[in-house]
Amino acid sequence: MNLNANPNIPEEVRAVAADGTQLRYALMEIAREMDDVIALGRGDPDLDTPPHIVEAAKAAIRDGRANPTPVKGMDDLRAAIAAHMRQVNGLPVGADNVMVTTGGQEGLFLAIQALIDPGDEILVPDPRYSSYDDAIQRAGGVMVAVPTNREDAFNLEAEAVEAAITPASKALLIVTPSNPTAGIVTEDRARAIADVAIRHNLIVIVDEIYGKIVYEPWRHFSIGSLPGMAERAITLDAFSKSYAMTGWRCGYVAAPANVIDAMARVKQVTTGPVATVSQWAGLAAITGPQDCVSEYLNIYTERRAVLLDGLDRMGFSYGEPRGGLFVWADSSSTGIHAAELSYLLLKEGRVLIFPGTAFGDQWREYVRITMLEPIDTLKEAVDRMLPVLERYRL
Ligand SMILES: Cc1ncc(COP(=O)(O)O)c(C=O)c1O
Repeated sequence: MNLNANPNIPEEVRAVAADGTQLRYALMEIAREMDDVIALGRGDPDLDTPPHIVEAAKAAIRDGRANPTPVKGMDDLRAAIAAHMRQVNGLPVGADNVMVTTGGQEGLFLAIQALIDPGDEILVPDPRYSSYDDAIQRAGGVMVAVPTNREDAFNLEAEAVEAAITPASKALLIVTPSNPTAGIVTEDRARAIADVAIRHNLIVIVDEIYGKIVYEPWRHFSIGSLPGMAERAITLDAFSKSYAMTGWRCGYVAAPANVIDAMARVKQVTTGPVATVSQWAGLAAITGPQDCVSEYLNIYTERRAVLLDGLDRMGFSYGEPRGGLFVWADSSSTGIHAAELSYLLLKEGRVLIFPGTAFGDQWREYVRITMLEPIDTLKEAVDRMLPVLERYRL
C-alpha cells in the first residue's frame, strides 16, 4: 500500500505521514476546521471530572491554598500517591520516591531526559504511543522497536525484548494497558520481562496511565512490584484517564529517589511545580471515594461492546481490547492505506479516527478508534462511516 501515489491525500497529510505525532495533529487540525465531526481520535475522556474532585479544587481556591508548592509536589499528595501505589500496585515506595508531574506526558519526558544520554538505546514496543519518539529524540536517544503481534494480543514478550538488546541498550519502555493496541502485559509476561531487565541491567519505564481501565476478566499488574525492580522501575501514572481529569494536567511518577531528584532538576527549570489547585484536585482523587473509577469503567465496558459491534458491521477485525480507551482494528478488508482511510472517513464521513501509521510506519492496515463518546454517538459514527467504506472499498 503506497500512500504517496494516492491523489486523494492532500499535501498537508502526505507531508507529515511519516511522523506519527505530526500525522495525528494534522488530522485533528483538519477536523477542527470542519463542522459536526465525531471525534474518536484523541484519548481524552469525555466524561466529567467527579464532583467531589471539582469541589476540592474550588475549596482550595476559596481558602487561598493556591500558592506554589515544592517542585516535586505537595508533601501530602506525594505521601498519598506513595500509599496508593503501595496498596493498589504493590510498589515498594515512599514519598521520596514520588514526584507530581504536569500530566503523564511530562512524567514521561522528564524520565527520559533524566535517564537517557545521547546514543543510549531505549526499547519500545511496536506499535507505540508516538509521543515517546519525540521525548527520546530530544534526549539524543535511539528508539529500538520491539515487535508485538495480534496473535499474541499485543502482549509484550520477554524473548522479543531480549532479542532487541545490544550493548547500547539502556532502558525498556512498557505501556500497559497499551495505547494504541489495548493489549496488556500480563503478570507472567511481566515476570519474564523483569528477569530479562535484571539480567541485562535495563531501566524499565512503565507507563500505567490506563492501569485502572482494565476489562474483565483481565487484571492490571505493575512490573515495579517484582523483586529486584525497585532500583530500576520508573512507574508513570496520571489522573487524566481514570478520573477524567486530562485538562487538570496532573500526573505522577514513582522511581528511585535519585531519579526523582534528577527529574526534579529538569522540572525546576522548565514547568516548575504543578498548578497547586490541580494538586489539591489530585489529592481528592486519590484519597476520596473510588466509585467513580468503577462507574467510568462500566461506561467504557458498555461502549466497547457497541463499538466492537459497529466494527463487525464495517468488516474490520480486531483482537479483544483488554484495557484502555481504544480499539485497535484491522482495516485491511478495505484495501485502503490507513492514512488515506482515516482522511476519507474524516472528510466524507465526518468521523475522526487515527491511522495505525500514527503509531508506527508498518501499521498501514490498522486504525485506532476511541470509545470516548456516548453510545448513541458511537452508533452514529458507525452509520456515518459505513457508506464511505461502501464507496471506496477496493
Ligand atoms: C500511553 C499514554 N501515556 C501518556 C499520556 C499522556 O497523558 P496526560 O494527558 O496525562 O499527559 C497519554 C495520553 O493520551 C497516553 O496515551
